[in-house]
Amino acid sequence: MTDVMILAAGLGTRMKSRRAKVLHELAGRPLIAHVLRAAFELAPEAIFTVVGHQAEEVESAVREQTARLIENQLIASPDLQFVMQAEQKGTGHAVMAAHDRLTSRRGPLVIVAGDAPLIGGATLKNLVETHRAEKNDVTMLTVMMDDPTGYGRIIRNEDGSLLRCVEQKDASPEELAVREVGVSIYCFDVSALLGALDRLTTDNAQGEYYLTDVPRIMQQQRSKVGLLRHSSAEEVLGVNTRIELADLDRKLRDRKLRELMLSGVTIVDPATTYIHQDVQIGQDSVIHPQVIIESTSRIGSGCTVHSWTRLKNVEIGDNVAIRNSCVIEDSTIRDGATVGPFARLRAGAEIGEKAGIGNFVEVKKSKIGRGTKASHLTYLGDATLGEHVNVGAGTVTCNYDGVRKNETVIEDDVKIGSDTMLVAPVRVGRGSVTAAGSVVIKDVPPDSLVAGVPAVVKKKLK
Ligand code: UD1
Ligand code: CA
Repeated sequence: MTDVMILAAGLGTRMKSRRAKVLHELAGRPLIAHVLRAAFELAPEAIFTVVGHQAEEVESAVREQTARLIENQLIASPDLQFVMQAEQKGTGHAVMAAHDRLTSRRGPLVIVAGDAPLIGGATLKNLVETHRAEKNDVTMLTVMMDDPTGYGRIIRNEDGSLLRCVEQKDASPEELAVREVGVSIYCFDVSALLGALDRLTTDNAQGEYYLTDVPRIMQQQRSKVGLLRHSSAEEVLGVNTRIELADLDRKLRDRKLRELMLSGVTIVDPATTYIHQDVQIGQDSVIHPQVIIESTSRIGSGCTVHSWTRLKNVEIGDNVAIRNSCVIEDSTIRDGATVGPFARLRAGAEIGEKAGIGNFVEVKKSKIGRGTKASHLTYLGDATLGEHVNVGAGTVTCNYDGVRKNETVIEDDVKIGSDTMLVAPVRVGRGSVTAAGSVVIKDVPPDSLVAGVPAVVKKKLK
């Protein structure tokens, strides 16, 4: 069984941030969540996360992502362990902090930096397989970079074996010209690793314990050191600055948009469309320019999403039209419904089949029945609307009495006149009509016309 260690204690000085680097978000997830996802593909027995800066937040980010993957049945529950590195004295020091927890571990240990979010599970698997096949004590992933600036250089002997790893700040001009770099991804035999850790020193430009020095020390101790050169530089890029963060975001986004287009989704302008990694969109849906779709949103087939709309964590059926400039979060929209322009749905809004939510309508925590329409200037909060209701312009469910939120129920086939105030808790019976300007403070019986302030029954309709 393999174990994984993620180094995530650093602040990330070059981010110029008060937030720990691994908490900065890429494509809607903290950096560390991306690394975890890859790590889980190894089906590790234990995952050690070395934490320091904002340790609690990093720990909860790890737990949250793990819970999400378990929920989606992508992984079985792993043994999550957190190692505190209170003072950050380098990547080698981070591993030293876990020393006592490692002594009892048997299997190979994969160590990855928490700031290389594009790393794929297949690459980690290949690293472990190579490590086993070559019977190495450490196998270090390397890559050729067109611009290796900032990375540790891999200096090889003539026979190709490792001479040493040298950090940018410690390298001579000749060494800086080397384009092969280490990417902070290793597979270690645990006992060989522990044997070498004790010998680490801070004799370098940054006065830190470098994990990159460990392979050379192991070599001196007659351990077998393997270098595995990976073909994709892009996949192992680390994030050190916000510029690199934005660069990777663009790469991930591009990858996602291509995937969607190849699967039959029209993206009118990929350059201005932002779609997060876990979003699903069905065939023949059309996404117009300047749309943002976040979180685990699911959109069916034959839908249209028009410009300047933001969707977050939505569940949308087939043939739904979302017009311009809508903001929709945590909501469900069923087949054939139409929403917007300028609509706001949130907190568990549920829009029924073929329903219509129009301009300047806000729907919060409300269920809108099939074929029901609220076309203009309306607030529906904590309400349940039946089928084929028509809500006139300017209607408000007055759901908040200053202390608690109260519910409004509007039964099937009701017509709510323009500018009706529904003072909750209140129920409007099936087939009833409220006249324009009614202030409804009492339940309305079925098939009645009410009017006035406060509204009273004027006549029975049946
Ligand atoms: C490191 C490598 C470098 C490699 C590069 C690849 C060392 C000395 N250098 O440099 O050779 O090319 O990664 O991206 O290892 N961390 C801790 N505790 C610490 C210091 C760092 O947990 O005391 C964590 C950080 O949170 C980060 C990871 O280790 O996730 C890497 O640290 P970082 O400072 O980014 O290392 P680099 O300078 O990029
Ligand atoms: Ca780094």
